[in-house]
Amino acid sequence: CIDISTLYKDTGHFTFDPGYGSTASTQSAITYIDGDKGVLLYRGYPIEQLAEQSSFLEVAYLLLHGELPNRDQLATFEDQITHHTMMRESQKDFFKGFHHDAHPMAMLAASMASLSAFYHDDLDVYNPEDRKLAAIRLIAKMPTIAAACYRYSIGWPFRYPRNNLEYVSRFLHMMFEVPSEPLELNPVVPKALDLLFILHADHEQNASTSTVRLVGSTGANPYACIAAGITALWGPAHGGANEAVLKMLEEIGTPDKVETAIRRAKDKNDHYRLMGFGHRVYKNFDPRAKIIREMAHKVLNELGVDDPLLDVAMKLEETALKDDYFVERKLYPNVDFYSGIIYKALGIPTEMFTVMFAIARTAGWIAHWIEQHETPGTRIGRPRQLYVGSTPRDYVPMTKR
Ligand code: ACO
Repeated sequence: CIDISTLYKDTGHFTFDPGYGSTASTQSAITYIDGDKGVLLYRGYPIEQLAEQSSFLEVAYLLLHGELPNRDQLATFEDQITHHTMMRESQKDFFKGFHHDAHPMAMLAASMASLSAFYHDDLDVYNPEDRKLAAIRLIAKMPTIAAACYRYSIGWPFRYPRNNLEYVSRFLHMMFEVPSEPLELNPVVPKALDLLFILHADHEQNASTSTVRLVGSTGANPYACIAAGITALWGPAHGGANEAVLKMLEEIGTPDKVETAIRRAKDKNDHYRLMGFGHRVYKNFDPRAKIIREMAHKVLNELGVDDPLLDVAMKLEETALKDDYFVERKLYPNVDFYSGIIYKALGIPTEMFTVMFAIARTAGWIAHWIEQHETPGTRIGRPRQLYVGSTPRDYVPMTKR
């Protein structure tokens, strides 16, 4: 038998960092977070200023190119996006293979991966022109495919992208039966959605972006990388939390039941967690959550919606922030806590919440993927492990087991 400690010695030195709490996997010039101060910058610009003054497509340009566009650059970028909004007709047939009640995230991930089967002219990841075209296609087609996932899931025919509309309004038009849909007529709707897209556009090396980079490090095509990002985002500890928050608030039901939820969340024998609470990096507050909370009040006011879930959410936040358990662990509402209340008020069904997140995050994913390929000397991502299995042993024939 080999002494297992010699096996470890043979592998050289490496850090053991489960969950990568203190391991930087890359350098990046895209997004900066100061988790103690609650600071988030895209390419140096504070998220608060972008939320107030920018638009999602301008932010997408900023993430991709590193600078804010001038008027002409933005117009050209918007034109390029508009030119690529259509899905191939044959991709509609691809949808027919899904079961009618498939979760939209399942359809989205598969449809995104399938783009590499529909487009072969932008798959050379080492060619900057191919990368640029893939980036435009992904940002342009994401809302079209997302809306198709929703409409397929409810048995409605797909709607073509209306290219005289802006990015967010075009998406709403593909989702809903506008102009009969009254929500579309209220300008707060596209504005709120655009804001949510800005806030979700990037967040440095989160689980899904790291996944995109890890897959990207193998030289996989951009559609495969983004599909991987979508599947990582789906989990309730990450982007899937927005769907889970709404379900949790509905389950709590009324503000007087909040105490029970808090008690359960503190109980280590219960798997229950307050969804939309806590963050690996933010240990003071999540600046996005502050902006979204304000927007939630504004949207509900302007649409004349009286959603009792907002009262439950506020009571939950207030109670948790006074509770030692949450204070000691620095658990604050994150970006997903109030976003679902806005999506709900906009008429977006719960199963589509994480899809919304994915539409926005595509801009960040693709910016990171491009940065990765523009950085000389990028190596394949290949974490090590701390082996805790058996020492070497002889194969046991079936007759002797
Ligand atoms: N409710 C109750 N307790 C919590 C919560 C929560 N939401 N989040 C963390 N804790 C507790 C943990 O039980 C742990 O307690 P312990 O020290 O007594 O063992 C401590 O706080 C630290 O938690 P970790 O899981 O180690 O923190 P980590 O940084 O690994 O996880 C995460 C961060 C995944 C966001 C976590 O806080 C969580 O699960 N939150 C709920 C899901 C959620 O909202 N996810 C969205 C994150 S934002 C985004 O991805 C867009």
